[in-house]
Amino acid sequence: MVLDAYERLVVVSNRTPTGIEGGATRSEGQRTAGGLVSALYPALQKRGGLWFGWSGRATRRQAHAPPHLVRHGGIQFATIDLSEEEINDFYAGFCNRALWPLFHCFPSRVRLRREEYRAYRRVNRTFATQLFPLLKAGDAVWVHDYHLIPLGTELRRLGWKGRLGFFLHTPFPPVDILTILPFASQLLADLNAYEVLGFHTQRYRQNCVDALCSELGGTFDGQAYHSEGGAVRCGVYAIGTDPTTFARWAMSTQAEMQSKRLRRSVRGRRIVLGVDRLDYTKGIPERLLAFERLLERYPAWQRRVSLIQISAPSRTRVPEYIEQKREVDRLVGAINGRFSEEDWVPIRYLYRTYSQEELAAFYREADVCIVTPLRDGMNLVAKEYVASQTADPGVLVLSRFCGAAEELREAVIVNPYDVDGMADDLKRALEMPLAERQERWQALIKRVCAVTAQTWCEQFLADLTSAP
Ligand code: G6P
Repeated sequence: MVLDAYERLVVVSNRTPTGIEGGATRSEGQRTAGGLVSALYPALQKRGGLWFGWSGRATRRQAHAPPHLVRHGGIQFATIDLSEEEINDFYAGFCNRALWPLFHCFPSRVRLRREEYRAYRRVNRTFATQLFPLLKAGDAVWVHDYHLIPLGTELRRLGWKGRLGFFLHTPFPPVDILTILPFASQLLADLNAYEVLGFHTQRYRQNCVDALCSELGGTFDGQAYHSEGGAVRCGVYAIGTDPTTFARWAMSTQAEMQSKRLRRSVRGRRIVLGVDRLDYTKGIPERLLAFERLLERYPAWQRRVSLIQISAPSRTRVPEYIEQKREVDRLVGAINGRFSEEDWVPIRYLYRTYSQEELAAFYREADVCIVTPLRDGMNLVAKEYVASQTADPGVLVLSRFCGAAEELREAVIVNPYDVDGMADDLKRALEMPLAERQERWQALIKRVCAVTAQTWCEQFLADLTSAP
């Protein structure tokens, strides 16, 4: 039994829900929750433990004060503040201007700065020094995402001998892209500090194993990477959502009222829904252009459909995100200017964050959910939408370039770079007969219920605790 195999689970991630639920940065955190926190939180709530990360706040102090400790239910949160400079160089800089575009295969957006890489390593060392005194023998430490790759090395250096696993929430790029980074070998070597490495899909795992073998030598036996440093298990653990909770939210009286209001506000027209953090990896401009192309090529759909695009503000201090927002604002204005009538606006653009519960009402009412990232580790919106449908289900239009497409094969799978193709697929989704919608949804909901946030967490921890 997994729960008996270690005494306490210790999760470490850059973002934690405390930055989201409390403190001075409440709204900043809420705006930027993202998949990592929304999947980990429910899984952690059930098993308890310690969650360590950044508070979301900036401090003026030079030296790092001890972590702030807060208890929420069964979870003990320990968070530290970062200085303005660390936020700029580590978070906005190396993490989100180098690693993020690199891992999502946007090499031309990668910006390399030695001092930012140094800050990245320094902040990882600070995380380790602040966390280490809180650890107890018997803990299983689970590190999350690209912000914290060197954390394992730093913890080992301080003497941590216990269980240590790492999960990457983004894609892992092919070796030719990874090695654009001058520090790629060092980061690959950092991965050897862990006993288990987890990825969302077979392809990401394969990319990582290829990179390890080609850059550092060693072999992969199908389960573990072997080198002079020992063996590291490399596994595939698809993250999921909490389908029961989404179904409950979508069926609530509150959601029913919200859905009715929404439908009235579009005067009974069909609804296509997009929900994303405002990020250039999400393919929002391409999606807007596809919607424009639909109205252009199939004028019968004019006045009969509205696109509701919810974009949550994200990483608003990073220039690429400021630029993306400008582009989205411009396109929405141009398309609405071109097609709007006195009583119909084709695109409703909501630049704000909704809670997951509020989103469930949007999901429930949407005839089509359009999830078309140019590249995405998994994408939980796709799974949340499926979980919120009932007897008269809507259609999921899904990019082939997100992890979810490996599982959700009964969605309408599209290439987000092919704007004409997407317009045709959107039309097909809008016109799909009930029987086909039901058939696809029944297959999809089975998968969404089989792979959840809970199973993801259990499977990773089972491998971490059984690793030699
Ligand atoms: C993605 C990343 C997460 C991150 C989230 C929100 O899902 O994989 O690690 O927390 O985006 O981004 P933010 O920069 O606000 O933490």
